[in-house]
Amino acid sequence: MRDTLLSEHLLAWYDRHARDLPWRVGPADRAAGIRPDPYRVWLSEIMLQQTTVAAVRSYFHAFTTRWPNVAALAAAEDADVMAAWAGLGYYARARNLLKCARQVVTEHGGRFPETREALLTLPGIGPYTASAIAAIAFDEPATVVDGNVERVMARLHDVQTPLPTAKKELTALAERHTPNERPGDYAQAVMDLGATICTPKSPACGICPLREDCDARRAGHAAELPRKLPK
Ligand code: ADE
Repeated sequence: MRDTLLSEHLLAWYDRHARDLPWRVGPADRAAGIRPDPYRVWLSEIMLQQTTVAAVRSYFHAFTTRWPNVAALAAAEDADVMAAWAGLGYYARARNLLKCARQVVTEHGGRFPETREALLTLPGIGPYTASAIAAIAFDEPATVVDGNVERVMARLHDVQTPLPTAKKELTALAERHTPNERPGDYAQAVMDLGATICTPKSPACGICPLREDCDARRAGHAAELPRKLPK
């Protein structure tokens, strides 16, 4: 299989089935030249670090209504932001959120830096989040690897090595499949596939856009992957 074929299959599926998420610029708008707002991409990725999409929605709406841009958030009172964050948990995220907003204003003129490497220097932005923001907001072909991506790669390539040993191998596979065209849409397409079709239990292989590309489906054991070492 040509590596680009896989991303083409996935992007064609995403064009029809992308989830409608409040921080997302859908494929049709992207094709019309509308760019995602880096502030909204950043805010959503911080909120999604340890919280589900369903739980994040209302917080994202509340934050962006009250603080519509990074300058507004940077000027907020600490106590107001902490109170608005209440319920999302992992409060270090909220403290870093404010630190990051203020640093973007004081050190970057109020604009988020546009590369993965520069994003990594900001508080609260680790390797995963830097890749996600670089890909989604700035179309840098950065590879986004989370549990969803590991599962999709393990199944596509029928990787029998258990996690966590398999992490390096799965990351290398994910890198190989990351396209130079539309890397942001591609990253979000893998997230959507992992959330809606290539789910941990009972994956919906029958309707999967990658069913013809998937070694584990062919072998009849997609649901058993990725294997995991006993804890
Ligand atoms: N999980 C982490 N980032 C996400 C995103 N941008 N969309 C959906 N789920 C996510």
